[in-house]
Amino acid sequence: MLVSATEMLKKAKEGHYAVGQFNINNLEWTKSVLATAQELNSPVILGVSEGAGKYMTGFKTVAAMVKAMIEEMNITVPVALHLDHGTYDGCYKCIRAGFSSIMFDGSHYPIEENVEKTKELVKVAHAMGLSIEAEVGSIGGEEDGVVGMGECADPDECKAIADLGIDFLAAGIGNIHGKYPDNWQGLSFETLDAIQQKTGDMPLVLHGGTGIPADMIKKAIDLGVAKINVNTECQLSFAAATREYVEAGKDQQGKGFDPRKLLAPGAEAIKATVKEKMELFGSVGKA
Ligand code: 13P
Repeated sequence: MLVSATEMLKKAKEGHYAVGQFNINNLEWTKSVLATAQELNSPVILGVSEGAGKYMTGFKTVAAMVKAMIEEMNITVPVALHLDHGTYDGCYKCIRAGFSSIMFDGSHYPIEENVEKTKELVKVAHAMGLSIEAEVGSIGGEEDGVVGMGECADPDECKAIADLGIDFLAAGIGNIHGKYPDNWQGLSFETLDAIQQKTGDMPLVLHGGTGIPADMIKKAIDLGVAKINVNTECQLSFAAATREYVEAGKDQQGKGFDPRKLLAPGAEAIKATVKEKMELFGSVGKA
């Protein structure tokens, strides 16, 4: 069932668990994430970066594929199709393409401009029945060309953006896209706590879910995080399983080169990663 992410995240915040956003890259990725959500009876958010959207030939292709897969796979758990780190133009493209949720990442604009653009997009998204995420304080590292310095968000700015009627808020708290460096300082729970104090029952979003230790994830959920984004970790598991298959020479045996066989271990590895995360985030059985 394709839905906006509003209800599922409201329920998650109230129930003290988090819904995973898993970024998708192709048909296999989407199929693995949807199958796991259904198997575990968990709500799920499919994240699509602008780069991944372009790779899959455009947002219209993605929306059509996801809607058809939900139907053909008999997926009954709530699924949101969400633009990840959207530009202003990208948000409009996804609204038109049939996404059920968007993120407007205006964190690199001066706060006044971020407020202006977010306000406008909230109106449009809500009129079309979509949920909308906004961002304050950038997420460190790089994801599909979106580069952030990783500064912690200012709780007052978070309040200003939260008051615009957005449905969930991404705030930088020392999190980074991609693998965490050895000298990473960890999440700033002080910042997260201050943000939650200012924004009340607004579901908070933790980007850069790859490689955050389980105890930090749990503490972040305790402090109001209701959505956690995971991208790199599925890519790493897919790559490792595919490498193992090829290095074992399995693509050379019989019809092992058949893409349905060649890509199967990677697809299974994505499922295992998604399952592990859903269990950690507490969303299993919450559909
Ligand atoms: P990771 O790639 O670090 O898991 O981050 C995902 C993310 O935050 C998507 O916006």
